[in-house]
Amino acid sequence: MSDDLHGKSALVTGAAKRIGAAISLALASEGAKVILHYHGSGDQAERLRDEITALGVQSWLIQADFEKPQEYETLIERSIATAGGLDMLVNNASFFPVDSLATVTFESLVRNMEINAWVPFVLSRDFARLAGHGKIVNLVDSRTHDFDWTHVGYILSKHVLDVLTRVTALRYAPTITVNGVAPGLILPPPGEDESYIDRLTQTVPLKRHGSPEDIAEAVVYLLKSDFVTGETISVDGGRHLKEYESGPRPDK
Ligand SMILES: NC(=O)c1ccc[n+]([C@@H]2O[C@H](COP(=O)([O-])OP(=O)(O)OC[C@H]3O[C@@H](n4cnc5c(N)ncnc54)[C@H](OP(=O)(O)O)[C@@H]3O)[C@@H](O)[C@H]2O)c1
Repeated sequence: MSDDLHGKSALVTGAAKRIGAAISLALASEGAKVILHYHGSGDQAERLRDEITALGVQSWLIQADFEKPQEYETLIERSIATAGGLDMLVNNASFFPVDSLATVTFESLVRNMEINAWVPFVLSRDFARLAGHGKIVNLVDSRTHDFDWTHVGYILSKHVLDVLTRVTALRYAPTITVNGVAPGLILPPPGEDESYIDRLTQTVPLKRHGSPEDIAEAVVYLLKSDFVTGETISVDGGRHLKEYESGPRPDK
């Protein structure tokens, strides 16, 4: 059975732009009220709120820095007070610094872990305690199927989030479902242009990159489903299958 999202409330972290904005708009199009979390992108968050208002749907802005416990440890409580309840949590915000095995530092690993794994976990735990029912979706990464040699701290933190998705699904059942969406090549990182992903499309079995809307569609599916939990859907044009590439293969 699939739930109707109309009139339900969702908190989307890192909602102001890119994939977070696409998820927020998709939820609003389903009639869900959206609490738009942002950190530094206040102007974009305000523009997104105007866009959602134009759809005839309520939304609110809420700010928190995920490196400041006093800000993220109150986020669920503030969201519930703002919207008068909370039915869905989408852990989308993320930190994506460049590093390698040779350059990664303990401090950088801790920052990655805090923003990409610890905060989604704290928000999920607070959601379970304070909302008590509903749906959680974590944005993971399809590179947990292999490795990201140029974003080592980041990918290690996404591995932790992937495991947390399954253990919280088990722990918070039967009143809460927890699932993941693992994007592949979707958008170039902030500061890079389209050529960044154009170069990489050859590594994708479907030979193209996806769109933020492809990710939003999978998130909406998981927020509607009432019988899927502990599952992570790869939305990556088949990139997670690359592990089967190693070794000799007969010609087609
Ligand atoms: N883009 C891709 O192709 C791709 C591929 C694989 C996985 N993913 C995953 O999909 C999700 C969305 O990707 P994206 O590229 O759209 O993300 P993004 O632009 O890199 O980051 C999303 C938001 O995270 C927020 N954020 C960063 N540091 C923060 C902090 N200290 N406190 C609070 N918020 C903070 C930022 O909010 P403000 O702008 O308001 O500061 C930012 O807009 C992420 O979880 C990412 O790991 C994306």
